[in-house]
Amino acid sequence: MIKIEEKVSLRNLNTFGVEAVAERFAVIHKDSDLDELYREGAADSVALILGGGSNVLLLSDIPGLTLLNRLEGIRVEAETDDRVLISAMGGVIWHDLVLWTLRHNFGGLENLSLIPGTAGAAPIQNIGAYGVELKMVFEKLEAFELKTGKRVSFNAAECRFGYRDSIFKHMDRNRFLIARIWLSLSKRNHQLHLEYGAIRQMLSENGITHPTVQDVSRAVTAIRQSKLPDPEKIGNAGSFFKNPEVTVAEAERLKAAFPELVHFPGADGRIKLSAGWLIEQCGWKGRRVGDAGCYDKQALVLVNWADAVGEDILALSTLIRRDVRAKFGVDLQPEINIV
Ligand code: FAD
Ligand code: EPU
Repeated sequence: MIKIEEKVSLRNLNTFGVEAVAERFAVIHKDSDLDELYREGAADSVALILGGGSNVLLLSDIPGLTLLNRLEGIRVEAETDDRVLISAMGGVIWHDLVLWTLRHNFGGLENLSLIPGTAGAAPIQNIGAYGVELKMVFEKLEAFELKTGKRVSFNAAECRFGYRDSIFKHMDRNRFLIARIWLSLSKRNHQLHLEYGAIRQMLSENGITHPTVQDVSRAVTAIRQSKLPDPEKIGNAGSFFKNPEVTVAEAERLKAAFPELVHFPGADGRIKLSAGWLIEQCGWKGRRVGDAGCYDKQALVLVNWADAVGEDILALSTLIRRDVRAKFGVDLQPEINIV
């Protein structure tokens, strides 16, 4: 029997560490819990699905039912000499999945090492880091439609993955619970992605000339630890905003005014600007308003130094957006999910 609790604090279940109380709360441990939830008519009242809570900002208490996804299990589904198809249940901790693939010497997830959260949330924003995005290895997912109790399969095209984006980020947030994902990985001749400069630098500092997937994972892990705050110690949800993408003409206008502008090639011929740089130029890096702050090693990360509530962090983000808009004419969009 699935247990539904009342008035449960979510403070330890979101990495910002902000307080919010779920009116009702249940943990999904096995696939059949979802069917049971549906049969009992409780699936209709789902107001929030949580995995690791590492990409949400909770602004207030959550009415209705909050589900915590703890569906467990990883397995090999099919393989050839060169490739392997694996599946992971939605509640698997993402980094545990990465480590499992590395133990099997499977390639594809090494650049995505140490991203917090669960496998089931990875497709929501097509997680990405260090030149790799989930969509590069994604095969399909199975989602449980809460209102109908049906299981629906989505392939990569149907997910419409973009930069920190998929249909799931826009669609009615609680329509589907992503129960399982399938990934296609390499077994040999791994295609390494070392184009992100810091990875090459880290490898060469360690005297590694022919890196393995495990070496790349270790390099990414070390780079991440050097600039991103550990949510166990300082509340945060990674990048608060997306890096904005602008037209070439807009980038040229900005470069003329700000020759130091940090930019990269974006999607569809657009130019991606570094939001961290824009924020830093506005003087926000390392600043604090009450317990809400802009992290001193990475200006794109907003942090909860102690007892900030969701509205404090949102208010800080509004000030930052206002200043970036005033100085650069660029509108920053949140990357995290504001609930
Ligand atoms: P949650 O925060 O629990 O949920 C996020 C959203 O997805 C919510 O809207 C939630 O309702 C929904 N959701 C969660 N699980 C499901 C499900 N099974 N079915 C349907 N909806 C669901 N992200 C990157 O892309 N790249 C990075 O490099 C990166 N670095 C980070 C570093 C730090 C220190 C932190 C704290 C975060 C970072 N993130 C990064 C953001 C975050 O780790 C990812 O977005 C991650 O995929 C969120 O997983 P989660 O399980 O914690 O999702
Ligand atoms: N920069 C600054 N000041 C800052 C931060 C960055 O000037 O305070 C400039 C520097 O020039 C730096 C460049 O921006 O070299 C890029 O910075 P970084 O490599 O830290 O990456 P990012 O663009 O700030 C993005 C993702 C991260 C991801 C890293 C690595 C987004 C919104 N963020 O950050 O993802 O880990 O690249 O690939 O795309 C997340 O989504 O939560 C997240 C952490």
